[in-house]
Order: sequence, then C-alpha cells, then structure tokens
Amino acid sequence: MIEKIERAAREAGSIILAAHGEDLHIENKEGRANFVTLYDKKVQDFLTTRLKEILPDAKFLGEENGMDAFLPGDDEGWLFVIDPIDGTTNFIHNLHPYVTSIGLMKDGVPYAGVVYAPVTDQMFCAVRGQGAYENGRRIHSSGAPLSDSVMLSGSAGFSMQAYQIAQELTREVQGRCHGVRSTGSAEYNLCMTASGRSGGYFEMRLGLWDFAAGGLILEEAGGRMTDYYGKPLSWRGPSSVLAVSEGIAREGAFPDAGAYLDRWKAKE
Ligand code: IPD
Ligand code: CA
Ligand code: CA
Repeated sequence: MIEKIERAAREAGSIILAAHGEDLHIENKEGRANFVTLYDKKVQDFLTTRLKEILPDAKFLGEENGMDAFLPGDDEGWLFVIDPIDGTTNFIHNLHPYVTSIGLMKDGVPYAGVVYAPVTDQMFCAVRGQGAYENGRRIHSSGAPLSDSVMLSGSAGFSMQAYQIAQELTREVQGRCHGVRSTGSAEYNLCMTASGRSGGYFEMRLGLWDFAAGGLILEEAGGRMTDYYGKPLSWRGPSSVLAVSEGIAREGAFPDAGAYLDRWKAKE
C-alpha cells in the first residue's frame, strides 16, 4: 500500500511542477500571509480521488476545500490527512522547499506517512514499526547534542503577537546551537530532522495536516514529537509542535518552550 501512496504523491508532484508559468489564482485565507492557490485545491482533489482507489473505506481530512476539521468518528478506522502543498508561500515564490504530504491514521494514531519534495525529488516515508526512509534508504535522526545542531523553526506568521514571542524563543535557541533556520515547510522540517540534517523543529501552532506524515517519519527515525509542554500529541487537530532528534531528546537541553506558549496564550 505504501508504494501506491508514494506513487500518488509523485503524481501530485508532477501537477505542482507543471504549475510554474501558469496563473496560480492566488487567494488570501484567514489571517496574515495565508494563501491558497488553484493548485493546492487541484492537488487535494487529485489525491482524494487517487487515495480512495487505494483504500475505499478511508475517510479524509485535508487543509483545503472545507475538509480541515477532525470529525467525530475520525478516530475509528482509516483516515487520510493531506496537505496538498505544504509551503504554499514558497510555491508561490518558486522557492524550494514545498512538499506534498499524506498521513494515514488508523484508529486515531499515525499508521503511515509520505512526504514528497518534487523540486529535489526526495521521497520520505514510514510505516509504524518499520522504520523511516528517504528515497529507499533507511534514515535516523541525529545523536548530536543541541550545542552541535542546526535547528529549524516556523515563524508563526499568522499573528504579529505570536510572531514576536516565537522570535524570543528562537533567539534563546539560537544562542545554544549552531543556528536556527526557517524553511517555510513544516513537513519538510520534520523530514530534515528525521534524516539527521537538523537537530529539531519547533513551531507554536500547526494544523494536523502540517505534521501527521512527518511526525511519524520522525518517530520512526528515532526522534521525539511532543507539544511545547512536552506532552504527547493528541493527533486530533492543531497543536504546538516540538520535534527533536534522539540526541537532543536524550540530553533534555531544549529551553522551556511551554513558558513561551503560555505568554502567547495570555496575550491572545
Ligand atoms: C505552512 C508551512 C509553514 C508553517 C506554517 C504552515 P502551508 O503550511 O508549513 O512552514 O510555518 O505554520 O501553515 O500553509 O504552506 O500549507
Ligand atoms: Ca501546511
Ligand atoms: Ca498547505
């Protein structure tokens, strides 16, 4: 089944790559710098059709086309969680990375994840209990401590208040590692952590579709995913995400991210 899902992700990648030079029909969604294009919608429609052929009993949750809520009963049986283009702003600017992400949950917990980066032709995948892979090669998260790692963050661009607090945490982390980078794709960040390139990734608020696939890939690569308080994710909807490599999880040296989240909540 995973090969069929990978094939669907690759086909989605072809649709995305063919978009360059075409009219993207860019629309603004709720909040700041939150865009959707014709291709986000097209790819989600394509994947819904294709994945239904693979698993006819599955339900669907996706960022676009009004399918973004985790509904009662979604924690029973199969549920595909799709982000057709993760990194839409990058896509609009023709700036790598942007990826197609397909998570598959079984009875409310991640079962499989596929993340495909079409520009670099990188296919990341995992099935629970079977390890994580990049283009067919087994991957592992890094064993390095925070002080020897590059970290990845999201900017919380949806609100200037959240952005400022996110920047304060970023500054604290920056002082303790080789540097903090921002790629613009949550799923890609998780795969970079799973493959040992980055020590971790943190963002104050993500949708389930932003981490459903990459979260399993990271866990299967030996990394750890929690919310900012260090609690396990519910896998039911939006959450803060703190994803770290094996090395940083063992060391426990990441700053108290929960304190920053509390400050944002108090200001909201
Ligand atoms: C966004 C990207 C970005 C993250 C945002 C997400 P989208 O997803 O993953 O890296 O910082 O929080 O919303 O909108 O490009 O699918
Ligand atoms: Ca996304
Ligand atoms: Ca998206």
